[in-house]
Amino acid sequence: MESLRHESRKNLFYLAPLRGVTDHIFRNIYERYFAKFDYLLTPFITTVRGTTVNPSHLRDINTDKNDSDRVIPQIIGNNADEFLVLASAIADLGYKSVNWNLGCPFPPVTRKKRGSGLLPYPELIESILEKVMKSIPLPLSIKVRIGLDDEKDIFKLIPVFNSFPLQEIIIHPRTGAQMYSGEINQVIFQECTNHCSHPVVYNGDIVTLKDFQEKSSQFPTINRWMLGRGIIKNPFLLQSINNRDFKGDPVVIRKFHDEIYQANSSVLCGQAHILGRMKELWIYLSESFSENPKFLKKILRSTSTSEYEKHVEKLFSQ
Ligand SMILES: Cc1cc2nc3c(=O)[nH]c(=O)nc-3n(C[C@H](O)[C@H](O)[C@H](O)COP(=O)(O)O)c2cc1C
Repeated sequence: MESLRHESRKNLFYLAPLRGVTDHIFRNIYERYFAKFDYLLTPFITTVRGTTVNPSHLRDINTDKNDSDRVIPQIIGNNADEFLVLASAIADLGYKSVNWNLGCPFPPVTRKKRGSGLLPYPELIESILEKVMKSIPLPLSIKVRIGLDDEKDIFKLIPVFNSFPLQEIIIHPRTGAQMYSGEINQVIFQECTNHCSHPVVYNGDIVTLKDFQEKSSQFPTINRWMLGRGIIKNPFLLQSINNRDFKGDPVVIRKFHDEIYQANSSVLCGQAHILGRMKELWIYLSESFSENPKFLKKILRSTSTSEYEKHVEKLFSQ
């Protein structure tokens, strides 16, 4: 099985998938204004029943809008046959690799034994992988949390992962129960890297250059880093990691925002959808403007696009 061509020492950066934020519009506009990632994971695509996948289900990964060498579509599901149908549709679009989501912490998902809801069931994961790995047309990587409720779930999973020719394991060292806050478990992450025979990608809470430097010295064997909320809270993050003296110009954030707003306005129907999408971005982007909480609250409370535009204008002209 072909694997990603990784130089051994160079750091590699991956854009984390954030459903509702990092769709193809975000991915393309981000890379145009800021920096290019080595790889970009898409928000998850759910497996579907049947033997074909409707093209509208694959809208975000339409290859006209994505670089199929660097974009890695992500699948969520727990049925091997359905997984294979979706993976084949993704291969047909020209992608080079696919990722399995074993991390999503949302109760409606985990209750169905999907995402991190599968983590307490290593035998089930093993039986899915046995079937999937026999005929998957693309290399497979896994994005995983350390457990659902128990941070030690991962230790029963690593031997399972080690027994299959997976491409890499992306670890977000929290449990599903922690959702997106609370302490990252550095000790367990380190143990995972000691026991995992596949390349490991670190993911979690890198928001500043200092965070990256700390994690790099803490985990000296890791050279693959996935950045998520930090990229939206601090869009210049990747540039400052690549060049420590880099100083970002806030005008670029304005242009980036405006282009995302225009693109969403042209593809989404109705003000509520457009505002919903933009507010999701502002939840994180607002950290670049933490000295202006008053305007941010107004942006998040806007009920029409004209109100939204007025408050955004005020924020950027401060
Ligand atoms: C709004 C939101 C949506 C997310 N959607 C996905 C997703 O579709 N697939 C996935 O694997 N992780 C998803 N995640 C998790 C992130 O990819 C990442 O693992 C997590 O935010 C921790 O990394 P960070 O601290 O760098 O953001 C999501 C996180 C957030 C906050």
